[in-house]
Amino acid sequence: MDIAITTDEFLRFRKLIYDESGISLSDQKQSLVASRLSKRMRELGLMTFTEYYEQVTSDPTREEFVRLLDLISTNKTDFFREAKHFEFLRERILPELAGEKRIRIWSSACSTGEEPYTIAMTLYEGVSDPSQWDFQVLASDLSTRVLAKAAAGVYSEDRFRDVPPDVLRRHFLRGRGEQAGAYKVKPHLAQMIRFRRLNLMNDQFPIQAPLDLVFCRNVMIYFDRPTQGRLVNKFHRYLKPGGYLFIGHSESLQWVEHPFKLLAPTIYQKER
Ligand SMILES: C[S@@+](CC[C@H](N)C(=O)[O-])C[C@H]1O[C@@H](n2cnc3c(N)ncnc32)[C@H](O)[C@@H]1O
Repeated sequence: MDIAITTDEFLRFRKLIYDESGISLSDQKQSLVASRLSKRMRELGLMTFTEYYEQVTSDPTREEFVRLLDLISTNKTDFFREAKHFEFLRERILPELAGEKRIRIWSSACSTGEEPYTIAMTLYEGVSDPSQWDFQVLASDLSTRVLAKAAAGVYSEDRFRDVPPDVLRRHFLRGRGEQAGAYKVKPHLAQMIRFRRLNLMNDQFPIQAPLDLVFCRNVMIYFDRPTQGRLVNKFHRYLKPGGYLFIGHSESLQWVEHPFKLLAPTIYQKER
């Protein structure tokens, strides 16, 4: 049974979550907040949301706040999710960079890692001699829990249904014995990716610009329009002229002021 949350308590949590993460919860999300946080509150022996709010906001280490955000955010993802983006990367972006053989990509809400590993597999498979290329993928998320899973690079077999078997074999190691049914990323792929915790609400990001491509998929849907606008303008600063931005298939920048050119649905380009 969920612990009851009053509207007043919900509004206080909603503001706290919005101020930190940009995640904008509608009035309809009151019971969702109660159900996602109740278990954690029981673990802590707390009976009311007011007590939990006190605990979260008085913790100088902010550890409990990070946990709270982990529980609120939605982390659904998949290998080769929204496959058109990976085709575009292989067929359009890689040939454009064939001269310099250097590519910098940021997977900016990477969740449990399926997106950056798919990017890395696409890069590796998309060129004739990967050893001649300088590939770097930065993968970041707000949630420490998903980042730990992403960095471990271990997934159960059923997660790979959209990965061709030969591609899976080249880049993931099949577990044996106690690890049967699981696959672990191979070192050549793992070393293409760096994981770190970054909050998209920050004004600046400690990353090496300029980037060729930013993936920001299926997270802006949780942000309100002014927040979306600020974010895509920040991405614009970190991209090189002619660089690309991919957003999720159910997202649009139609109502947001931004300087990008729309190339195809969900694919944007910075002017050259
Ligand atoms: C639904 S997942 C999307 C994963 C992947 N990009 C995809 O499309 O499959 C959304 C992710 O955004 C992250 N997120 C939410 N707010 C964020 C913020 N302010 N900064 C960085 N990441 C955030 C969540 O932790 C979650 O892992």
